[in-house]
Formats: sequence, C-alpha cells, structure tokens
Amino acid sequence: MTTPQPQSPEPSVHIDPYERGWMIAAIAMLVVFALAVAVASYSLGIQLPAPEARVNPNTITTSGPFAKPGLRELAPGRYEAYIVAHGQGWYFDPRQISVPAGSEITFYVTSPDVQHGFKLEGTNVNMMVIPGQVSTLTRRFDTPGEYNWVCHEYCGTGHAAMYGTITVTP
Ligand code: CUA
Repeated sequence: MTTPQPQSPEPSVHIDPYERGWMIAAIAMLVVFALAVAVASYSLGIQLPAPEARVNPNTITTSGPFAKPGLRELAPGRYEAYIVAHGQGWYFDPRQISVPAGSEITFYVTSPDVQHGFKLEGTNVNMMVIPGQVSTLTRRFDTPGEYNWVCHEYCGTGHAAMYGTITVTP
C-alpha cells in the first residue's frame, strides 16, 4: 500500500476537452444569433418602425388622429381603427368597435405613457404598444362574432383590466 502522494497543482488553465467543445459551441451560437439579427435587419428589412411611424407621446391625446380615437370608414368594408392604450386608469380608448362581416380593419395603436400590448384572441394580431411609436396591422374579419383583445404586456396594477372587443355583425 502506498502513501497518498500530494497532488501536483493543476495547470492554471486546464480546460477539459468536453468543456472546450461546449464553449466553442456556445460562442458559435452567439455568432449565429448575431448574424441572424444582422441578416434580418439589413437583408430582410425587419426593423423598428421608421421615423414616420413615430409620434410624440405627450401630444397624441391633444392633436393628430389619436386625439379622436375610434373607427373611421375609408370605403365600404374598409376601416381604420385608432386606439390609444392608457396606462393611467388602464383602459383602451375605444373599448368597443363594431364592423360588418367581410370588413378589413387597419389598426393603429399607440400609448401616451407606458408600454402595453394589443393581442386579439383567436387571430395573429399581436403587437407591442410602445409610447412614441404607432403599431400597425391589417386584418380582415369574415366571421361574425365577438373578438376580444387584451393588453398582454404587463403595464401596472390595472393591467388585467385592459381589454376591448370587436363585434363583427352579420
Ligand atoms: Cu396595458 Cu398591460
């Protein structure tokens, strides 16, 4: 039986080959993610809304199209909905929209205060609502019924009370 020998000190930088492999994989993934962002923004043109989509959050409730939010009919079956998400009092203005079936609505949503969300249940309408930006999406409503939207970005104590309804009439 041999007496235990004192361990020779480990070299200061010893990296297990297995660990080295995972470090390389992790760095490679970061490079791939950065490239994906670069390709999306420069090649596919996916980016934050252009300056034209910006508004002054301090004046949206007093001037411009959001000063009188609501539904505007552009042509038969074509509507624009200007919706303001309020973080003081926690409500959408308007809360209720009604259109006949077969209508197309272009939503313009913004906020004068904090970040909100706009998610229309059962559809792919899903936007962040950012103060100073106008979020826009267009959707056609062919099936009569009630479509509820909710704020799905936590915005304060009244967050859960932020919702609205689109009524699509036959
Ligand atoms: Cu507005 Cu959550």
